Amino acid sequence: MEKKLQAPKLGDPLPASRASAETIELLRYRRSTPADFLTEPGPDQQTLASILTIAARAPDHRRVTPFRFVVFEGDARVRFGDVLRDAFIAREPDADEKRIACEQRRFLRAPVVVAVISKVDRDHRTPEWEQILTAGAVCQNMLIAASAEGFAAQWITEWYAYDARVLAALGLGENERIAGYVYIGTAKEDPKERARPVMEQVVTRF
Ligand SMILES: Cc1cc2nc3c(=O)[nH]c(=O)nc-3n(C[C@H](O)[C@H](O)[C@H](O)COP(=O)(O)O)c2cc1C
Repeated sequence: MEKKLQAPKLGDPLPASRASAETIELLRYRRSTPADFLTEPGPDQQTLASILTIAARAPDHRRVTPFRFVVFEGDARVRFGDVLRDAFIAREPDADEKRIACEQRRFLRAPVVVAVISKVDRDHRTPEWEQILTAGAVCQNMLIAASAEGFAAQWITEWYAYDARVLAALGLGENERIAGYVYIGTAKEDPKERARPVMEQVVTRF
């Protein structure tokens, strides 16, 4: 994988398109790998920086940058496990130890987890809906970049994307929401194709 690619500088001419059979193949066969099927290794620091930089190049109407990232690696995943445990017990006080331990270990399923936070500027003239769509596009860019860097990934939310205690521990503002947790690692086994939209049902012509 080419690691020496320089970030383009402001005003640099860029290709309007870049015919690439490899990219078409990546997208045509792209599959998420469930977090339970991820393991080490994850991307190194340089590769992760590249994945995040590419994710951040998502389309963004009027350049609001309506998102931010929180990266979890190593011990940070263990520390976040304590947050998950406490929040889960508060939600389900009768849960048994096994279930609590399972919730606590969520982030240990992958070497790297990136929380993609949608950060809406309500005073901006770009509609809130469009700002939220950008955060979704960021997540998808991240999946594609991770795959192209040779890593498996999954975009998930689960209960802790919506739990007030977890969001407070992550320091989310009132204008922020979790767009997704992107788990990145290496697949223990390759996924299989799943059902896809019937194109005749989703494409019409005006
Ligand atoms: C916003 C969003 C949240 C998701 N949350 C979950 C989740 O909590 N758990 C899950 O198993 N899949 C979740 N998914 C689905 C997976 O990311 C993935 O699309 C699914 O496993 C199918 O795999 P595919 O990407 O190869 O089609 C979510 C997808 C999106 C877009």
